[in-house]
Amino acid sequence: MMSGEPPLYLEDTMAGPPAGTLIAKLEDLPKHGGKDILFKDGSYQTNIFVQHCEQGVFVYENRCPHAGTPLNMFGDKFLNMDQTHLICRTHGALFEITNGKCIAGPCKGQTLRPVAIEIRDGGIYSA
Ligand code: FES
Repeated sequence: MMSGEPPLYLEDTMAGPPAGTLIAKLEDLPKHGGKDILFKDGSYQTNIFVQHCEQGVFVYENRCPHAGTPLNMFGDKFLNMDQTHLICRTHGALFEITNGKCIAGPCKGQTLRPVAIEIRDGGIYSA
């Protein structure tokens, strides 16, 4: 991983699934390649998202380093209009898709937290 943040292992979170769990099938990702995924266990929640692009598949915690809100307001769209960067809908921060680094906005220089995953057999699995 190229991000400055240590990867998030879903099994270490309160609501995340154990390692080796299928998170999403690549063929099920929408055309724009994004998917918001929420794991719930009682009152605990773990929110991540998947973004598929030409360079590959990237999975991050769905939490902006600025104010801690999810990047998307609703739905599975995480890209800006030009589809070049991830965008936080709260205050407009832009992030590199491939490493989660914020390149513009109030949290410039900070990074999204990558999720530890494995891609095999056409699926994204928790690592
Ligand atoms: S919460 Fe994301 S830019 Fe402010």
